[in-house]
Amino acid sequence: MTVNIAVLVSGRGSNLQAIIDNVENGRIKGAKINVVISSKAEAYALERARKHGINAVFLDPKRYDKSEYDREIIKLLDSHDTDLVLLAGYFRILGSEIIKTYRNRILNIHPSLLPAFKGLHAQRQAFEYGAKVAGCTVHFVDEGLDSGPIVLQKCVPVHQDDTEETLIARILEQEHIIYPEAVRLFVEGKLKIQDRAVIVRD
Ligand code: GRF
Repeated sequence: MTVNIAVLVSGRGSNLQAIIDNVENGRIKGAKINVVISSKAEAYALERARKHGINAVFLDPKRYDKSEYDREIIKLLDSHDTDLVLLAGYFRILGSEIIKTYRNRILNIHPSLLPAFKGLHAQRQAFEYGAKVAGCTVHFVDEGLDSGPIVLQKCVPVHQDDTEETLIARILEQEHIIYPEAVRLFVEGKLKIQDRAVIVRD
């Protein structure tokens, strides 16, 4: 059986690209990206999707109020028989209705070692805090901010001569490794949520 994936984006889409590449090269088997939905018209992620023959949809937040917008997303997800929702640089907070409908089937990538540095500009937060290690986290999405059960994490060092930009780049490189890996584990049915912990059986 194929796992149908939908990806929500708002920008550049480099994580989307990493997932696409891993589906195409067969590291993620038994999955198909059915639709990419963007909250921004100019998101480069939409172009990436189109280049790979994936249905790319811009859903304009200005046309709906918040809960209507989320309902439109649910309609799109349902009409694409979605099994797994990936947030990949999606700049909006997901409404509770989506989270309820797709409970334990939504993943997000966050550029910090959660629970440290939740929210926006996580890499800058780590940098300005003077952290010696930083990193990224793939987690299930629940109603809280960057608070759902953690699937995978990866550390990177923070060097003395780093700038915010060099740190962002070092973390991003790891995002592109652990996000496809987490998707593979989900698709192969190897993740089990037990309270706050995700048990990985690979
Ligand atoms: C990444 O740093 C991701 O961790 C964060 O937003 C950024 C999206 O980058 N959630 P991209 O659009 O995947 O290139």
